Amino acid sequence: MEREGAMILQQRQVIFLFILLGVSGAASELEQFSVVEEMERGSFVANVAKGLGLDAQELSNRGVRVAFKGNKEYLQLHPKTGDLFLREKLDREDLCGSIEPCVLPFQILLENPFQIIRAELIVEDINDHSPAFLDNEMILKIPENTFPGSVFVLENAQDLDVGSNSLQDYKISPNSHFHSQIQDSSKGRIYPELVLNKALDREELSEILLILTAVDGGVPPRSGSAQVRVIIVDINDNAPIFIQSQYEVQISENISVGSKVVTVSATDLDIGNYGEISYTFLHASENIRKTFHLKEKLGELYLKEKVDFESIQSYTINIQATDGGGLSGECTVIVQVMDLNDNPPELTMSSLTSPIPENSPEIVFAVFSVSDLDSGENGRMVCSIQDDLPFSLKPSVENYYTLVTEGALDRERRAEYNITITVMDLGSPRLKTEHNITIWISDINDNPPVFTQTTYKLYLQENNSPALHIGSVSAKDRDSGINAKVTYSLLPPENGDLPLFSYISINSDNGHLYALRSLDYETIQVFQFTVTATDGGSPSLSSQALVQVVVQDMNDNSPFVLYPLQNGTTPCNDLVPRTAEPGYLVTKVVAVDRDWGQNSWLSYQLLKATDPGLFTVWAHNGEVRTARPISDRDAIKQRLLVLVKDNGQPPLSTAATLNVLLVDGFSEPYMQFPDAPKEPIQTDSLTTYLVISLASVSFLFLVSVIMVIAIRLWKRKRDATDAAHFNPNGPFPSHLVDVSGTGTLSQSYQYEVCLTTGSGTSEFKFLKPIIPTLPPAEGNGKDSHFSSQVLRNYFGTLCC
Ligand SMILES: *[C@@H]1O[C@H](CO)[C@@H](O)[C@H](O)[C@H]1NC(C)=O
Ligand SMILES: *[C@@H]1O[C@H](CO)[C@@H](O)[C@H](O)[C@H]1NC(C)=O
Ligand SMILES: *[C@@H]1O[C@H](CO)[C@@H](O)[C@H](O)[C@H]1NC(C)=O
Ligand SMILES: *[C@@H]1O[C@H](CO)[C@@H](O)[C@H](O)[C@H]1NC(C)=O
Repeated sequence: MEREGAMILQQRQVIFLFILLGVSGAASELEQFSVVEEMERGSFVANVAKGLGLDAQELSNRGVRVAFKGNKEYLQLHPKTGDLFLREKLDREDLCGSIEPCVLPFQILLENPFQIIRAELIVEDINDHSPAFLDNEMILKIPENTFPGSVFVLENAQDLDVGSNSLQDYKISPNSHFHSQIQDSSKGRIYPELVLNKALDREELSEILLILTAVDGGVPPRSGSAQVRVIIVDINDNAPIFIQSQYEVQISENISVGSKVVTVSATDLDIGNYGEISYTFLHASENIRKTFHLKEKLGELYLKEKVDFESIQSYTINIQATDGGGLSGECTVIVQVMDLNDNPPELTMSSLTSPIPENSPEIVFAVFSVSDLDSGENGRMVCSIQDDLPFSLKPSVENYYTLVTEGALDRERRAEYNITITVMDLGSPRLKTEHNITIWISDINDNPPVFTQTTYKLYLQENNSPALHIGSVSAKDRDSGINAKVTYSLLPPENGDLPLFSYISINSDNGHLYALRSLDYETIQVFQFTVTATDGGSPSLSSQALVQVVVQDMNDNSPFVLYPLQNGTTPCNDLVPRTAEPGYLVTKVVAVDRDWGQNSWLSYQLLKATDPGLFTVWAHNGEVRTARPISDRDAIKQRLLVLVKDNGQPPLSTAATLNVLLVDGFSEPYMQFPDAPKEPIQTDSLTTYLVISLASVSFLFLVSVIMVIAIRLWKRKRDATDAAHFNPNGPFPSHLVDVSGTGTLSQSYQYEVCLTTGSGTSEFKFLKPIIPTLPPAEGNGKDSHFSSQVLRNYFGTLCC
């Protein structure tokens, strides 16, 4: 272009020259003027007059002017002086661009004569432009592994000025990595280049900012700059590196599945894919893979399965971190499982003896061992049993314990022991195990049977049926089984008098007592014997109890009339003087009853009489008295039938017959009877008969009295301990009389009887009662009153 431009310019000059020659033919000189660009308008350029050889007058006469091609008037000519001035400000770059030198041709025209003079205005350059880059920033990407010495071409800058004012040099801002150099192109242009001084490391410095400055050659020089951004491109030159080469974590045994154990972390200085890390197990065992889960991207280690200190205490896990470029690093994670007290102690019973015999000294009856899977304090144990047991727990070798009795045991006090063995570890929280054992104590025959009572008192109605169950004895034995099996037996009586085995039998199994035969109260009132209870132990033990059998009375005896005699051979005639007043005591019916108590209480009544109105019988005492005065009409012989009845249920009775003779005053023999037998010869048959009767009655009476006294004496002794079934102070029926103190005739009275024989006639009479001092316990006014009355009545009767 430039070349073309220059040729066109030359052609023009040639043509212009041609025209010039053709017009004048004489104009051959060339006037040259120069002006510096950017001069102000009106600036003086030169004076043309001197160059033309004309003076100022001549010049103005000839009419001088300048002509530029294309009517561009850059200059103005002063016609009088011939001075040239700038008509406008000239910009060389605008007019000529990069053409050097910048020439503006024009003509100086003279008239009269017409003359054309060629002239040139040369515009000289000044340094009015700075070098400039097209872009403010250049981006240069350099891989980090580029070798030092490598050259990188940069964009060049441009400077519109020419010549020495044009671009001369490039400079790069000071830095350690690069320096700049200048490359000339064939056209004389220069280009900047960057040269790498030393190896780059993106991880150290990923980007470098440089300033490239272009400088021209003007005075003073001008410059322009642009930024060079050097981006260092990553290559995978770094392996991942773990922050810690070893991680140690402790996890509790009860950590739940899914918990995070640890996060491992590696870094890679590279970026992008080269810096992307994934974590994997390295050489991990099956067990580790089963127990842990590693999140590949995050490096988080999770628990996949429960851990158990008792099986594995620690895990060593190798973890590899790999980046996208295949480089890797490793670390080790040591997971320590912390023991928790999660296992209760265990107890193993090695031997147990039960039952253990009572009364035996210290014996070992149980051996057991304890264990705990935990370790440390969690595995230390203490062992105990209840405090209130007669057993002690003794440690033996190596976690073995024995249970020992502390002394003799008594089965009868406690036959069964529940022992709770408590094993507790010392962990936190404490765990314990309980083991219950039951120990039985076996029996030894160490307790005799014991009767429920020491003395048994059994009551039996007389006239019982044979084999009657009359009562039971019972004994208990605190032992058990055969040792407590009691059998009963009767002990033979010591004195052998009592035919015990014919009276009583005992059921050896249950202690029931039976009366073997009918018993008669009147024969035996009470007897006692000993029963033995024997247990079945070996040797057996026994004990004894006394059994007293009391025979109770029944009303089985009728009253027995002692007087008058009733078998009729010698009827007793009572004599009554006809002069007797009403209420005269004729006689007294005397009767006894062999029964006892109420059954022996008697009452009397007149059943039948020859003359019922004449006599009365006193119900209480059997006294027969006259009821009215006796008249002469009354028969001499009176017969009375008196009924004697006891108080039993049902009552029994006996009738007694009395013969009473009514006499006209006592005849001699009768009246003088107490006096001396003055006339024994006169004793007639009647008298003899009477005396004999009296003697026999008296004798009988005496025998009866003695017998009765004997019986009463014996009975008293018994009643001292037994008055239960009769209370003498109880209500006493008023129509009855107690012929004895508490039964039949009282033994408290003895009668002095005098039997005299004189004049061939035997006679006796009661002299006086001997009343002994009564025993204080029986000092009973009623008793003695009755008794003495009875006695008095006897007197009255017998002195007939
Ligand atoms: C683990 O045991 C400790 C102590 O006994 C207790 O405090 C904690 O709550 C337990 N953790 C789990 C998850 O059971
Ligand atoms: C012992 O334990 C058993 C069963 O638990 C129970 O039946 C018995 O009554 C207990 N004995 C004692 C003496 O506590
Ligand atoms: C052991 O006995 C105690 C007291 O009788 C009772 O509370 C406990 O439950 C028993 N333990 C076992 C394991 O049977
Ligand atoms: C009459 O009874 C008395 C006394 O019981 C007796 O001694 C006597 O022999 C009896 N006489 C007759 C004839 O039975």
